[in-house]
Amino acid sequence: MIAEASPNIALIKYWGKEVSTCDATRNLPLNPSISMTLSQAMTRVEARAQSEQGVSLVWDNKTASVADLTKVVAHVQRVCAYLHVTFQAEIPTGFAINTSNNFPHGTGLASSASAFAALTLAIVGEVMGAEPAMQLLRTDMATLSALARRGSGSAARSLSGAFVKWEREHAENLNIAWPLRDTVVIFSRAPKAVSSTDAHSALPTSPLLRGRLASLPERTRAVEAALRARDLQMLGPLIETEALEIHRVVEACSPPIHYLLPETKKFLAHVQSIPKRNFFFTIDAGPNVHVLSEANVSDELQGILQKLGLHAELWQDECGAGPRLI
Ligand code: PMV
Repeated sequence: MIAEASPNIALIKYWGKEVSTCDATRNLPLNPSISMTLSQAMTRVEARAQSEQGVSLVWDNKTASVADLTKVVAHVQRVCAYLHVTFQAEIPTGFAINTSNNFPHGTGLASSASAFAALTLAIVGEVMGAEPAMQLLRTDMATLSALARRGSGSAARSLSGAFVKWEREHAENLNIAWPLRDTVVIFSRAPKAVSSTDAHSALPTSPLLRGRLASLPERTRAVEAALRARDLQMLGPLIETEALEIHRVVEACSPPIHYLLPETKKFLAHVQSIPKRNFFFTIDAGPNVHVLSEANVSDELQGILQKLGLHAELWQDECGAGPRLI
């Protein structure tokens, strides 16, 4: 069965997880997060039952690394255990998994979110059949979201779209229809020096984390209200404050973690100096910038880059409705 899922971009970020001494894959967040699922960037996962025992994994036409294979095997076992216990489903001896992205790695789009969302759905589809799997997604997205979360926290939010809130065990759809665009300004495709998993673990060393967590409920409420009102002028400053804050918090860790490049900082400072604008940014754990807008703003962004003498590629995306089986 083939499943396709898109990455999501967080407007309120998952930044820090509860520490578990017994299970590193619990991925329970320190705070609720809100995101927008995209539609153009996509991970495609094909899962085929095979008679040989175990799981084989091909990633972008290459044999996967041992680290990636280990995570995928654990995830396949988790999903199969759920299907066996809940539906008494017969589990195949093994699976051949083939996964590919239509967007390059390192673009600032979280491929682990789309990968684990698609993998979860592909396994459910291969074991149960396409229609029962889609039925499960429609009627019990929470369970699939909770399963995907164990593969990668932010994957919990890629099982649905467009606007999604993840509080603890699973995400839920906010049922907001607002066709926003996301133009990703790609300053670098180099792999990040510190993974988001390592950043989550380092965050308790940041003296700024406690203050962030105290102020987040108010910001989270305000972001949700702005989304419901479909008010970009209200949403924009909130998501920019949020994005800059997660970087300040991680830069205060011991040892400090830096994701922003000088180009990113120059671009952001210039954007924030524009008195009235119809686009606003957010940034994940990387140097690339997501610009949210209602209209197409690529000409304006190209103009800013040119004026500042910066080189960047633009990836155009927009909000989407969640994963599907093919
Ligand atoms: O799901 P992870 O462990 O890759 O963490 C994602 C962290 C951020 O992308 C920075 C924020 C988020 O909520 O997606």
